[in-house]
Amino acid sequence: MATGWEPERLSDAEVADGEAYHRALYHNGDTNRPVNWHKNSVEKLIEVARPHIVDGSLVVDYGCGTGGSAIELLKSLDKQGVKIELVLIDPLVSWFSKARELLGGRDDVHFELSIESDSSGGTSFRRLEDILGERKADVIISSSTLHLIPAKKIGDLVCQFAGSLDEGGAFIWDSGDIESDFRPDYSALLHDPYRAVRELLRDDEERSARLSKMSGDEIDKHERRLDRIFPPPFSIEVILEALKDAGFSSDISEEVVDFSNEDAERFVLVPRLAEIAAPLLQGEERDNAIKRALNTALKSIADEGKGSEEAYRSHWIYGCHKLI
Ligand SMILES: C[S@@+](CC[C@H](N)C(=O)[O-])C[C@H]1O[C@@H](n2cnc3c(N)ncnc32)[C@H](O)[C@@H]1O
Repeated sequence: MATGWEPERLSDAEVADGEAYHRALYHNGDTNRPVNWHKNSVEKLIEVARPHIVDGSLVVDYGCGTGGSAIELLKSLDKQGVKIELVLIDPLVSWFSKARELLGGRDDVHFELSIESDSSGGTSFRRLEDILGERKADVIISSSTLHLIPAKKIGDLVCQFAGSLDEGGAFIWDSGDIESDFRPDYSALLHDPYRAVRELLRDDEERSARLSKMSGDEIDKHERRLDRIFPPPFSIEVILEALKDAGFSSDISEEVVDFSNEDAERFVLVPRLAEIAAPLLQGEERDNAIKRALNTALKSIADEGKGSEEAYRSHWIYGCHKLI
C-alpha cells in the first residue's frame, strides 16, 4: 500500500476530470496500452533517466498528474527487476487522485500534494526541500510539466531541485512545449493546436454572448484564467540559464513525436483543458465548439507543413542535468 496524501471527498466532476486525462494517455484507460504520443515521448525520458537509477534509488516525479510518466517508468524498472522508492508530487487534486487510484496499491510509491493553504486563505506551493524533509533524491524527473510553470518561477524551482538532490544526483525532464532555435520547421509545439483553439473561440459569437452576462471585472479575471491553461511558450534559454545559475551541467536532446488528430481531440476535451472554451456550457455546446475549432487549427498546422491530415508533429526537448 502506498503512503502519503490521499484524496478526500472528491466531486463527481473531479473524478471525471482525472479519468478523462488518464484516458487521453491510455486507450480505454488500460495502462498496458499507452497512446502513441505518450508512449513515444516518455520512452526517451526513461531512456535518459535510466542510467542514473539503481536499486534503492529515491526518485521524485515532479508534476506526475494522473501518473502517466510514473506508470511507464515503473513498468520499465519492474521488467528489469530494479526496485526504487518513488515520490509522486502534483498540485491538481482531480488528476493526482487518479494517480493514487492507479498506483496506490504499490508499497514503493509515496504521494505528496504540492499545494497547501496559506495564512491569507489562498494556496501556495510547498518547497521540494520541505516535502522531502531530511531526505535527498537520487533522481528528479519532470515530464511534460516545466512549460506550465511561469518563466519567472523556473529559477527558484531549479534551486529547489539543486537543494533536494543527493551528491551525484540528476534532474531529468521533457517538454513538448518549449521554444528553441533548433525546432525543425516541419514540427510544431505541443500546445500550438490548443492555443489556436483558444484564439479561434476568443471572439466566437456564442461564447461572447455568454461572456456578456458577466461584469467587466469578472470577464477580465475569467479570460486571464483561461489564458493560463495553455500559456504562451517560453524559450529553452530560460531553463538553461536557471540551471547554469543553480550549478547544473546541461545535456539536451530532442525528438519529434506524431500526435494524432484523434488523440488531440481526446486531450483537449479533458474537462480541465476544455475550460479554454468556457463559459460555453459544459457538454455538447462546449465540446462541439472545440471540435470545430480544433479541426480548423489542425488543418492550418498541416498546411504550414508541421503535420499531415492524420497528425501534427510535436517537438520534444529532453534535459539531463547534474550538479557540478
Ligand atoms: C501534462 S501533466 C503531466 C503529467 C505526467 N508527468 C505525465 O507525463 O503524464 C502536467 C502536470 O503539471 C502540474 N502542474 C501544473 N502547473 C504546475 C506548477 N506550477 N507547479 C507544479 N506542477 C504543476 C499539473 O497539475 C499536471 O498534473
